[in-house]
Amino acid sequence: MSHMVILTGAGVSAESGLGTFRDKDGLWTKYDLNEVATPEGFARNPDLVHEFYNARRANCQNAQPNAAHTALARLQTKYRGRVTIVTQNVDDLHERGGASEVIHMHGELSGALCAICDHRWAAPRVMSPTDHCPACDSPATRPDIVWFGEMPYRMDEIYAALSEVDLFVAIGTSGNVYPAAGFVAEARAAGVETLELNLEPSSTAGAFDTARFGPATEIVPQWVSELINAP
Ligand code: APR
Repeated sequence: MSHMVILTGAGVSAESGLGTFRDKDGLWTKYDLNEVATPEGFARNPDLVHEFYNARRANCQNAQPNAAHTALARLQTKYRGRVTIVTQNVDDLHERGGASEVIHMHGELSGALCAICDHRWAAPRVMSPTDHCPACDSPATRPDIVWFGEMPYRMDEIYAALSEVDLFVAIGTSGNVYPAAGFVAEARAAGVETLELNLEPSSTAGAFDTARFGPATEIVPQWVSELINAP
């Protein structure tokens, strides 16, 4: 059966108002990622890190999925083959847009993690360094987000999928952060067709067989309609 893997990045949620990281007014132009997205930054200042993710969690809850999210969900239900969405995003807009098979390789804002016992639970709206783990009672709770220098989640599943799909598509990602930025090379090495859908050419644009450029809410629904209406 035909199977495609779609990798998404912040660009797919940009038109839902969640912003991106490396565009001109992106998150990393306002915050030092070393302070808010590394284990060392969390150890130095857990209050600042919780404040950063509490704000993003609130933004996410106030945001709505956009036409790109809902088009990808439609693709999953109407496409003749299987569609696996691997997202670098920590928002839940793919799921709220109706998507089912979503792998969050960088974790999720809706998750909390105990740094001592690895227990996971649904994150409260506001997290703080004084929260205690519901399982081991340690005051060591953190957002269940994969920080720089940490191993992304479910990589075995992702690489297994990349070795057997017939199409790899990257949507709304700048191709700056590995291992996600390396998926296109993995797919090409396995002889898989590759497509980039982005506002502008990414850092890995040269590795894709084909590309379409424009806002995700325009080019993704167009691409999905062509696929599901194809004879
Ligand atoms: N439609 C389509 N693409 C868009 C849109 C849009 N409306 N707006 C921006 N983009 C594109 C940009 O051109 C850029 O290529 O989305 C990409 C966003 O790139 P980044 O901000 O680098 O985000 P991303 O690639 O998801 O970052 C990867 O870096 O900081 C880490 O963990 C973080 O998951 C994140 C990872």
